[in-house]
Amino acid sequence: MTARMSLRSVAEAQGFDVGAAVDADLLRNDAGYWNLLRREFTAVTPENALKMGPLRPSPDTYDFGDADAVVNFGLEYDMTVRGHTLVWHNQTPAWFEEWEYTDEGIEGFLRDHIHTVAGRYRDKIDAWDVVNEAVADDGSMRETVWYDAMGEAYLDRAFEWADGVTDADLYYNDYGADGVNEKSDAVYDLITRMLDRDVPIDGVGLQLHALHDEPDPESIAANVRRFEDLGLDVQITEMDVAYPEDELPENHRERQAEYYRAIVETCLDTGCKTLVTWGVRDDDSWVPGWFSGLTDDPLLFDGSTPKPAYHAIVDVLAERSN
Ligand code: XIL
Repeated sequence: MTARMSLRSVAEAQGFDVGAAVDADLLRNDAGYWNLLRREFTAVTPENALKMGPLRPSPDTYDFGDADAVVNFGLEYDMTVRGHTLVWHNQTPAWFEEWEYTDEGIEGFLRDHIHTVAGRYRDKIDAWDVVNEAVADDGSMRETVWYDAMGEAYLDRAFEWADGVTDADLYYNDYGADGVNEKSDAVYDLITRMLDRDVPIDGVGLQLHALHDEPDPESIAANVRRFEDLGLDVQITEMDVAYPEDELPENHRERQAEYYRAIVETCLDTGCKTLVTWGVRDDDSWVPGWFSGLTDDPLLFDGSTPKPAYHAIVDVLAERSN
């Protein structure tokens, strides 16, 4: 009997990165999790460890323990490392709430944060989500602590500060902007303005937290292409596929496999060369903790058992290599 081909081996043969969001505690304590990551994936993104809240226990200190654990694992096993994320409105430090800051104070804090964090991983992190979710669902600029203090220029500064200290490619990352829609139009306009201002941005991350068979892969392909036409790279950065429990198709794991397959095909057709799933095993997914009424099995592994979605991705990558 021949050993089953790993996802990693078919991805490498195709020059394609298949990644997973990684939890530092599981990586340290769960050998099954460690083994799956090591065997099956070519890329890692720390799921929470590089966010500002976990990294900044107090205004003057950093806690790099968890982030280092995930980054070093990726380096040791020759994986691509994605950094997530330098600027976001969520998961900011708890002490922010009591901080009586000025606009200048916010700007200085963000500059120091980016210089320290992106600088620490200068030649270790390959791609950074510099700014996450700056656009609101209706397409307006999201009103965040960063936007309030600095206006749209906070994105420009964040990319410039990162560019000064890291060799990584620099991405804007968002959800709900995967296909062509009002929100992705707004992201497109925002990034066009940034490019007009010579901001050093290399790419766009489409999170792709998918529901059922939405967004439509053809619409995603059109969206990827328009960003590529701006000279940018596009990556799928946080994929999972959940179903509303009250509309659950009978064969939803096969439907899920078809959707994953269609997205990998879309990537291969458009030249998007990275797909990261937001977790490894269904049990580790963030979805059940954050949404009610959705299925709790959005990923590629059920325990250590590969699901139909896993096999669909292996098949399509292997077929395209022939
Ligand atoms: C999620 C993590 O998976 C959870 O563990 C955490 O409690 C909240 O954040 N978009 C993003 C990710 O950019 O950082 C989020 O990750 C999921 C949505």
